[in-house]
Amino acid sequence: MVLVGLLLAGAAVLLVAQGCDSGAGGGGGDDDVAVDGGGGGRDPFAALPDTAEGLTNVSTDLDAVLERGALADACTRWRAGGADRRTQLLCGKWMFFYEGFGTAGVPAVLPEVLIENFPDDIGPGFAKYGMVADPGSAKHLPLGMAPGAKLGNLDTLAFTCASCHFARLPDGRYAVGAANHAYQYGKQNLALAVFPLLAIMGSPADHDPDAIAAIQPLLDKVAADQALKLRLISALIPLAGASSMVPMFPREAEHHYARWPSGTMDFLIEPLPLNDRVHTISKISALWGLPRDDERAATGMAGAQLGWTGSTSSLMVFLRGFVELGGGKLAEWPDDKLLPLAEYIYSLRTPASLTPPPAAEVARGRALFDSAGCIACHDGPRGSGRRLYGFDEVGTDRAMEQWLDGPGFMRPAIAEPLTRKVKSPRLTGAWAFTRFLHNGSVPSLEALLCLVPRAGVTETAYGDAGHDFGCALPMAERQALVSFLKGI
Ligand code: HEC
Ligand code: HEC
Repeated sequence: MVLVGLLLAGAAVLLVAQGCDSGAGGGGGDDDVAVDGGGGGRDPFAALPDTAEGLTNVSTDLDAVLERGALADACTRWRAGGADRRTQLLCGKWMFFYEGFGTAGVPAVLPEVLIENFPDDIGPGFAKYGMVADPGSAKHLPLGMAPGAKLGNLDTLAFTCASCHFARLPDGRYAVGAANHAYQYGKQNLALAVFPLLAIMGSPADHDPDAIAAIQPLLDKVAADQALKLRLISALIPLAGASSMVPMFPREAEHHYARWPSGTMDFLIEPLPLNDRVHTISKISALWGLPRDDERAATGMAGAQLGWTGSTSSLMVFLRGFVELGGGKLAEWPDDKLLPLAEYIYSLRTPASLTPPPAAEVARGRALFDSAGCIACHDGPRGSGRRLYGFDEVGTDRAMEQWLDGPGFMRPAIAEPLTRKVKSPRLTGAWAFTRFLHNGSVPSLEALLCLVPRAGVTETAYGDAGHDFGCALPMAERQALVSFLKGI
């Protein structure tokens, strides 16, 4: 149960009830949507107006991204009433980085002990696992872990949006809403849950060999340093009486955690109480340029198509699910309290590349994007699809088709209808991605357009076949398409 907070995000994406959207997700920002006619008549890649109210969401200066201390009391000021939209967005930004929503997290002592004792392997703020240290944290905690609900007497750290949706761009700038494809979520789980057990008392025979290999450097350090071992034992004493709080992974789950590439994960697996009995892998999405309800309605999309299976109908529905499934009390999180976070997320814009390909190449690729037929499935906001696609249509790994529908799994009553399909994602900002396709199986745009070979993985869930659209075009045209995708 301990890692529920860690895991709740994906479940929230995927499980929230359809049809309970009161429309609050749209927020009432009619003014910031550029819609000129429905569907095909509009340019999917037209720039959205800047509605960030001067907030700094992309910068090399981390302190600037954290608004130089202005986040701390923003929600208090916003909730007191009468504040302006800038305060609302500052409050939403605070929530993005620091709101645990009263969900249960990891006993705080676990990440703290790792950060303190393994600087070379874990790093301040779990930097070695792809997170960013919070400059305001005396304990060197990462941005993306914040106080959660107490577990008995224990303080916990819950995972916030920032753990997965805040990252450094390839050029070194920090960007809110970026998909953290460097984040080694699986390995972090093993370090937090399996490593302490194994370092102190467990037997390797009880654990999956790949999982042990993932944390072996930590285990070696403990084995070689008796003082370190004693420090670990004394730090973890508070957990000793709380066996129900020690997360239990079946071996099979450990195996999966060890193998997910960074930036990918399956949420519906132990120790989350909900295991859908299907192993699927989801790539973390970027949150830039999410369509508001009025924009997607104007383009003919039935819903916001959030999540890879495209089944969550709006951002507000998504946020409600995040709170509820994480074990928070939804009654304490009415829509008006969630709205600052939603408004803030809607204000996130795709950062432009600092080294875009030559403009003429980008323009040539843009024309090819239409003439080669990409536009047929990428004609919605920011190049997303306006409908969902069957796995037969795109040919990508189809494990996700069974998502939430494994043998013997009883779907919770609140579960939305299954789509058995995959969304065609927004394409802007792909220059900053290091993982492509829903399962992150393809490492580059060049590999996606078959300019360099793909690895040829066929193992279920990890497969990198499919979506070979454009692969038969002349090489120069494929290069132009890549230039276009790197230029938007
Ligand atoms: C532990 C990692 C993690 C955390 C924490 C997390 N997310 Fe995500 N998020 C993901 C992954 C992975 C996906 C893709 C999931 C899927 O659909 O299979 C995703 C998808 C989304 C999407 C759908 C985007 C789209 O275009 O389909 C939204 C919106 C989102 N997250 C918002 C949030 C918000 C808001 C928070 C904080 C309240 C949050 N996430 C916390 C990992 C995370
Ligand atoms: C039949 C519909 C269809 C066509 C045609 C199509 N796409 Fe896609 N595209 C999709 C779907 C669906 C996905 C997600 C598939 C998955 O992840 O399993 C996708 C994914 C992508 C991605 C990966 C984005 C990411 O975040 O991982 C890129 C890039 C992309 N398409 C570009 C193109 C280009 C360029 C063309 C034309 C050469 C094209 N697409 C043609 C439907 C289509």
